Amino acid sequence: MRLVLLGPPGAGKGTQAEKLSKEYKIPHISTGNILRQAVKLNTPVGIKANSYMTKGELVPDKIVIEIVAERLKEPDSKNGFILDGFPRTKQQAESLDSMLKSVNMPLDAVIYFHTTDQVVISRLTGRRVCKKCGANFHIKNIPPKKAGVCDFCNSVLTQREDDKEDTIKNRLNVYKNETAELIDYYKKSSMLKTVSGDLDINEAYQVLVKALKNDSIKV
Ligand code: AP5
Repeated sequence: MRLVLLGPPGAGKGTQAEKLSKEYKIPHISTGNILRQAVKLNTPVGIKANSYMTKGELVPDKIVIEIVAERLKEPDSKNGFILDGFPRTKQQAESLDSMLKSVNMPLDAVIYFHTTDQVVISRLTGRRVCKKCGANFHIKNIPPKKAGVCDFCNSVLTQREDDKEDTIKNRLNVYKNETAELIDYYKKSSMLKTVSGDLDINEAYQVLVKALKNDSIKV
């Protein structure tokens, strides 16, 4: 199964991608996670990406396309993958199409998580992440057992630099100006499935799995 998850920041793409990845045993490829890791390790890509990410701007297409092209060459992508947060521009979508065409591995579906700005802002301002193991929490929706402490490795939870309210507003504008047009791009190829991002995590997952099964997508 080869999937793209599309939608505004905070729509739940990463959360659902994790669940699908476990269920279908295919890699969850998040360009945001790859870039954050590069920033943490201070690699040349990380140094270039950092200033864009802290402002909530998109990292230039060339950098992101190269990252994905390399990642899709890894052996674990041969049986399928879930792309989370890529593509985000028309140029990225066209590059992905040609990458996949050249290896005869077309996408099976593009899942669009539809939600509102209010939901996004409340989810992202409340998100807390573990710097050590990467686990994701939300102060109200998915609270850790002990406030501020990771359930899995006992490390301190932090707020993502780009989850401050002003940066979230910028990320939403960037999404509307640069990424939302991909909904029409994928609608034309009849690959688009819309799922409400406002459902709770398990409900959204059930709807998602049903939509994928109804289409008899090969897994
Ligand atoms: P990225 O990491 O991709 O951020 P994003 O798209 O803004 O996505 P988020 O991780 O914020 O949201 P999500 O939809 O995955 O929601 P999540 O499941 O985490 O990108 C970060 C930056 O990297 C970009 O701004 C850009 O600079 C750069 N970048 C990345 N890809 C790029 C590209 N292709 N091109 C150029 N630049 C790129 O959930 C959010 C919160 O809500 C969590 O706390 C979660 O626990 C909670 N939650 C999730 N689902 C639910 C639910 N159903 N109900 C209640 N709470 C929920």
